[in-house]
Amino acid sequence: MCGIVGYVGEKNCTDVLIDGLSKLEYRGYDSAGIAVFEKNRIVVEKSKGRLADLNEKMTQGHKPVGHCGIGHTRWATHGEPSDINSHPHGNKRITIVHNGIIENYQELKKFLDRQGYKFESETDTETIAKLLDYYYEGDPVKTIINVIQEIQGSYALGILFRDFPDRIFAVRKESPLIIGAGEGENFIASDVPAILKYTRHYYLLEPEEIAEITADQVIVRDVHGQPLEKELQTATWDIDAAEKGGYEHFMRKEIYEQPTAVKTTITPRITDDMPDLKECGINSEMLKGIRRLFVVACGTAMHAGMVGKYVIEKLARVEVTVDIASEFRYRDPLISERDLVVLITQSGETADTLAALRLASQRGAKTLAVVNVKGSSIAREADMVIYTHAGPEISVASTKAYSVQLAVMYLLAFSLAYEKGAITKERCQELTEALKQIPEQIEETLKQEDICQYVASKLVNADSLLYIGRGLDYALSMEGSLKLKEISYIHSESYAAGELKHGTISLITEQMPVISVITQTALQEKTISNMKEVKARGAKVTAICRQSLDLPKDIADYVVKLPETEELLMPMVAVVPLQMIAYYTAVLRGCDVDKPRNLAKSVTVE
Ligand code: G6P
Repeated sequence: MCGIVGYVGEKNCTDVLIDGLSKLEYRGYDSAGIAVFEKNRIVVEKSKGRLADLNEKMTQGHKPVGHCGIGHTRWATHGEPSDINSHPHGNKRITIVHNGIIENYQELKKFLDRQGYKFESETDTETIAKLLDYYYEGDPVKTIINVIQEIQGSYALGILFRDFPDRIFAVRKESPLIIGAGEGENFIASDVPAILKYTRHYYLLEPEEIAEITADQVIVRDVHGQPLEKELQTATWDIDAAEKGGYEHFMRKEIYEQPTAVKTTITPRITDDMPDLKECGINSEMLKGIRRLFVVACGTAMHAGMVGKYVIEKLARVEVTVDIASEFRYRDPLISERDLVVLITQSGETADTLAALRLASQRGAKTLAVVNVKGSSIAREADMVIYTHAGPEISVASTKAYSVQLAVMYLLAFSLAYEKGAITKERCQELTEALKQIPEQIEETLKQEDICQYVASKLVNADSLLYIGRGLDYALSMEGSLKLKEISYIHSESYAAGELKHGTISLITEQMPVISVITQTALQEKTISNMKEVKARGAKVTAICRQSLDLPKDIADYVVKLPETEELLMPMVAVVPLQMIAYYTAVLRGCDVDKPRNLAKSVTVE
C-alpha cells in the first residue's frame, strides 16, 4: 500500500508530483505529502485526507517551487491518518517517503532514543529517516547501504539529502518501485501509471539495488556500491487507460473496458481454435504431469479462482483446492512436486499471495502466476506467468481484472482437460471458440445497464442483502456480494442456495433483498425452489438468468437477462450485471465509488 513518486527535471516538481500521486491514490488515500528542494532547502507540505486536501492546503498556504522532489499517498499501518503521521518524514538534512512495513522498528527506535533522537510520529517510517541521519557522514549511497542492513521488512524508499539538491535516491525490497526515464528528466514511482504522461520508459529496481537519479542520469548500484547495467523497459499501457476519459468513475469505465480486455488477453493464447499457453511456459508434458492444483489468491482474485475450480474439476477431472492466501501460508499445506500452485493477482504485489508463492516453491511445487502487472514481484518469482492484459485498473473495486482472470482460468482448464484426455480436441475447440465469442456477449450484456440501475434503486435503502446460487453461480455470487459490500457499505453475503434452509433463511424478511444467479441448467429447478422459499417469506428477489430461461410467474420481482453461451462460460457474462448493480447502488448512496473507505488496491501488508 502507499504510493510513491519522485521527480527531477525542468518542470515544476510540485505539479508533477501531485499529478503522479493522483494516479497512485488507488494504493492508499488517507493522507498525502510532498518534499521539494526550494532554493536548496527541503520544503515539506503534508496533510491528512485526500490529495485534493493537500492541494487545497498548499493553495491556501505555500506551494513549493522547485525541480527535484518526492511525494507520497498513504494507507495507514502505523499510527492513525494525521498530519504528523503523513509522509514525508525526516529533518532538514534527510527526508524520505516510504511504502512498506519495517518489522524491527521498535528495536531500532529504542536504539535511536538512546542516541538522543526525538520521535514525533507513530510511524515505522520515521525510524528509517532517523537511522539514515544517524549513519550519514556525507556519502548517501554508503548511508543507504548501512541502513538497509539494519532494517527488516518491506520498503520502497524515495530519499532526499540536503547536500545533494539535484538528485533523488531510492532503494526497495518487497515493495515495488520503478525508475521512469525521460528526456532531461527522471522519475521514481510505485507503479507505471504515475509516469505514463511523461515517459513510457522505465527501469525495474531489484531488491536492495540503490538508485541515484539526476535529471540526466540514472545510476543503479548493488548492495556493495558497484554500478549495475539495467535494462530499459517499455510500458505497453496507454496513457488514456489511466484517465477517466469522460466516465464519471473509473469503475464504470473499467466495466466497459471488459470486452477489449478479455479479447486482448485471450487472442494471443489461441492457435487454430485451441488454447495455446506455450509462450507462458505451459506445455503438454507439464500439464500431463500435474496431479493436483492449488489456487491461491486474495479478494476478487480468489473469487476468480473459485470459478476456475468448478471449471477445471468439471472438464479436466483434476482436483483443485482454492485457498485464501493468508490462510494457505499458515495452514502448513500438503503440497508436493507434482502439484501446480496457481497464484492469481492483479497487482502481483499482494503480500500474502507473494508469501504463499514462496512457500509453494520451497516445498517443491511448480508455481504459475496469473498477473496483470508486468515485472511485479509475483510475476518475477513464479516459475511460469500468464499475464492478463487488462491494462491499468484504477478503481479499487476490481472488475476488468476479474474478467481477464476468469478468461485465463478457462484457457488453463481447456488445455489441462485436453492434455489429460478428459475432453476431445473437437470439444476443446468448441469451448475455445465459445470463449472467443465472449467479448461480444459482454458487449451485449452491457446493454442491461438500465435495468441494473433500476434494481440498484430498489436496493439502496437495504441494510443487508443475500446473493444465492448453486455451483458456478454460487462461485460467481461471491464476487457479486463482495462488489456490493466494498463500495456501497451494505452488508451482504453470498450463500449456496441449497444451504439457506440450514439457518440463514431465518434472516429473510421484506427488508432483506435477495439476488439469485441462475445460469446452470442442471441446477436451475433446485435454485428456483430456493427462490420460492425466500419469496414466500417476503424477500424482494432479483434474478440474473439466461435469456432462454422461462422463470415461473411471480418468482422474481426484477429480472436481468443474459445472452446465451456455453453454460460453463456463463460467469463471464453474468458478472457484468453484478458489477453494475453494485456500482449503481454505491452511486445512489453517494459513496466514493473508486476509493471506498478503509481500502487500498495493492495490499502489501499481511
Ligand atoms: C485488495 C483489493 C481487491 C483485490 C485484492 C487482491 O483487497 O481491494 O480488489 O482483489 O486486494 O489483490 P491482487 O492485486 O492480489 O489481485
